[in-house]
Amino acid sequence: KRRIAVMTSGGDAPGMNGAVRAVVRMSIAKGCEAYAIYEGYDGLVKGGDMIKEMKWTDVRGYLGEGGTLIGTARCAAFFERPGRLQAAKNMVLKGIDALVICGGDGSLTGADKFRAEWPGLLEELVKNGELSAEQISPFKHLNIVGLVGSIDNDMSSTDATIGCYSSLGRICESVDYIDATAFSHQRAFVIEVMGRHCGWLALMAGVSCGADFIFIPEKPPSENWRQEMAKIIGKHRKLGKRKTIVIVAEGAHDLNLEKITPAMVKDVLCNDLHLDTRITTLGHVQRGGQACAYDRMLSTLQGAEAVNAVLEATPDTPSPVISIIENKIVRKPLLEAVKLTQQVTEAIKAKDFERAMHLRDAE
Ligand code: F6P
Repeated sequence: KRRIAVMTSGGDAPGMNGAVRAVVRMSIAKGCEAYAIYEGYDGLVKGGDMIKEMKWTDVRGYLGEGGTLIGTARCAAFFERPGRLQAAKNMVLKGIDALVICGGDGSLTGADKFRAEWPGLLEELVKNGELSAEQISPFKHLNIVGLVGSIDNDMSSTDATIGCYSSLGRICESVDYIDATAFSHQRAFVIEVMGRHCGWLALMAGVSCGADFIFIPEKPPSENWRQEMAKIIGKHRKLGKRKTIVIVAEGAHDLNLEKITPAMVKDVLCNDLHLDTRITTLGHVQRGGQACAYDRMLSTLQGAEAVNAVLEATPDTPSPVISIIENKIVRKPLLEAVKLTQQVTEAIKAKDFERAMHLRDAE
């Protein structure tokens, strides 16, 4: 029986549990044994009890739960070769040769690197006397399949990452709460949302909440952003609007890549427009909590597809990432998706914002 392991890695996202449940149950339904690796790559490096067989009922109740019930970590050891050697040894000892990883681009790149090194890692383990040639002989190839779990929706090659719609929903709900109090006092609120490198949450929250102004990293405002924002918000107020909402992505900056902070925005609203202004940082409220219906559906369909991808893989198939494009669940080459994602960050660093926006759209 083939043994397929599932792991969550990087920042947690609602829907990760749905993905774990789907991988476990689809593996069992297809006649394989399912394993969960606890605490991300940390668990893979530590081995032992951190890699547990999962039965059908072990994932009962997982579907809508927020966070990740099998834990996650940002593991430094795996990014060094001795850590990966230990991880390879643990997999052989457990009889696992397929790994489904739900995480962001960093976690998925690490996984593909592991795959590329795989036969070499095993040979080294034999040379060091840690495993025998007999032990490694059934483990010629390692299958890696990526599932993108991140609230930021920052991965190219997919329309939505697992978790982003739950997070967007939470932001909208929070802004609705703020709206009521802002309206009552005729106040302005500057709301900071997550997105270190990606403005999707801020942009979509702006659209969904009818914000007055937004700041996102991919499209910085002009040098005169203070005057422009004051002009637009002043106009909204003249039209009779009693409240003002400005949404600032965590990674927002100006054309020179200088950070635009909520405090800077507040200064303009207070000093130029004389608005009674408050700042709200939504923080990790955006990341925790139950998965919305979309994320339950997405994680289930993608988790099931990840198992199909494992079972259909040949040694020459590049590691896939399971995407959703125009409402279809599809497989894309993982490394290309990661490369495109990194190119967006590089374009932003090079101040080529047009290219950054274009790459965000790329399939
Ligand atoms: O999950 C991605 C993300 O939400 C980013 O938008 C944010 O900057 C980061 O996580 C914060 O993560 P942590 O608090 O775990 O470092």
